[in-house]
Amino acid sequence: MLTILYCALLLSAWISCPLANIDVRQCPSRFQRTEGICIAIEPSKGYTFEEAQSACASKGNNAHLLKIGKESVFNYLKNNVVNNGNDVWLGAVLKNDGGFEWLDSTKCCDPYWLPGEPNNNGGAPNCVNIYRPGNNAGLNDDHCSERKGFVCEIKECTVISNCETPNCTWYGDTKCSKCYDDNIFFKKTTNDTLCERLCDHDSHLCWPGTCRSGLKKNCVCAPQFDLNTNVTSTLCQLNKNQTATIETCATTVYSEKGDAFQSRGNSSSTECQFRGNFFGNIQPRRLVYTFVSSFKVNLTAFGTIPPYIQETRFGTLTIIKKDLGGKLMNC
Ligand SMILES: *[C@@H]1O[C@H](CO)[C@@H](O)[C@H](O)[C@H]1NC(C)=O
Ligand SMILES: *[C@@H]1O[C@H](CO)[C@@H](O)[C@H](O)[C@H]1NC(C)=O
Ligand SMILES: *[C@@H]1O[C@H](CO)[C@@H](O)[C@H](O)[C@H]1NC(C)=O
Ligand SMILES: *[C@@H]1O[C@H](CO)[C@@H](O)[C@H](O)[C@H]1NC(C)=O
Ligand SMILES: *[C@@H]1O[C@H](CO)[C@@H](O)[C@H](O)[C@H]1NC(C)=O
Ligand SMILES: *[C@@H]1O[C@H](CO)[C@@H](O)[C@H](O)[C@H]1NC(C)=O
Repeated sequence: MLTILYCALLLSAWISCPLANIDVRQCPSRFQRTEGICIAIEPSKGYTFEEAQSACASKGNNAHLLKIGKESVFNYLKNNVVNNGNDVWLGAVLKNDGGFEWLDSTKCCDPYWLPGEPNNNGGAPNCVNIYRPGNNAGLNDDHCSERKGFVCEIKECTVISNCETPNCTWYGDTKCSKCYDDNIFFKKTTNDTLCERLCDHDSHLCWPGTCRSGLKKNCVCAPQFDLNTNVTSTLCQLNKNQTATIETCATTVYSEKGDAFQSRGNSSSTECQFRGNFFGNIQPRRLVYTFVSSFKVNLTAFGTIPPYIQETRFGTLTIIKKDLGGKLMNC
């Protein structure tokens, strides 16, 4: 069962690698990617713990005051955050039971306390900050109403597949500035948050059919054609129920000596309906059938043929071999 053969017009400039596997993980602008997380440091001492929490949360994308999840993050803070005397809030508080917890309710803060800390400095409620009183930086508890800077943690930007130039905003949402093969293979959609595949000459032919907005996902095949699509290919293939018309059937019997006898019938026509019996005083050796069948497709019904379709062939071919009835008569 053969359906559409196509000849694709290939322009070498269009050939590229749209599915390149590039690590595009990144942090929103003004956040730094370190130890697999994105952090932003607000050094100015303008925030109570509560204000720091909401200022951080306003960065969006689940931003929250930093939790030290592993020692390498602690080392990063020591080296980058508090080396010039800033003390900054982290996301940990004293609980009623006298223990400290990170904001996700996991236990804080060993082994990161400064010597002598926590000391419930003047009584609860206390919040946790990191600072460097001398040579050594570490955690300290302080009144939550003190004004300090803070360290905010935010998720990495979402990755947009097939986006060549992602633009991760301050708010942690990613927009795509440019898709791979922009407007040739891919197109920005949904407020630039997706790069979607276009119907095109390369492999997503979607013809005969329509491709609304040029998007492969909208491909609708013409009636009598079935959509056959996957990641790499979009084809409209002739529905298997479409059958060809057999127009002529010439049937010839050959004798042992090689003499040929046409099947009887209308001498002016080889249409199948006019084929009849053979009569002849021969020893049949072989029987040859010659069929001409046609399959008609109304191209006008498919609208304008896109320029990248250079050639079309339609057809079905199913040969079913059957035993023939009849008698061999010897005279
Ligand atoms: C990223 O987005 C910001 C805000 O929408 C815009 O000002 C900036 O030009 C964009 N950067 C790129 C590389 O497109
Ligand atoms: C695109 O953004 C505009 C403005 O933010 C919004 O009104 C619209 O609904 C968005 N469209 C989609 C498809 O997300
Ligand atoms: C997609 O479909 C095409 C045509 O049917 C086929 O040749 C190709 O192997 C398929 N690719 C995948 C990844 O399934
Ligand atoms: C072919 O026709 C039969 C009977 O009308 C129907 O059940 C079947 O779904 C059709 N097949 C296709 C591929 O359309
Ligand atoms: C012979 O075939 C022609 C078509 O080629 C048809 O018009 C005609 O009716 C046929 N004659 C007989 C006797 O079947
Ligand atoms: C082919 O399709 C067009 C458009 O649908 C129609 O106007 C025309 O009559 C069709 N031709 C035939 C021979 O069916």
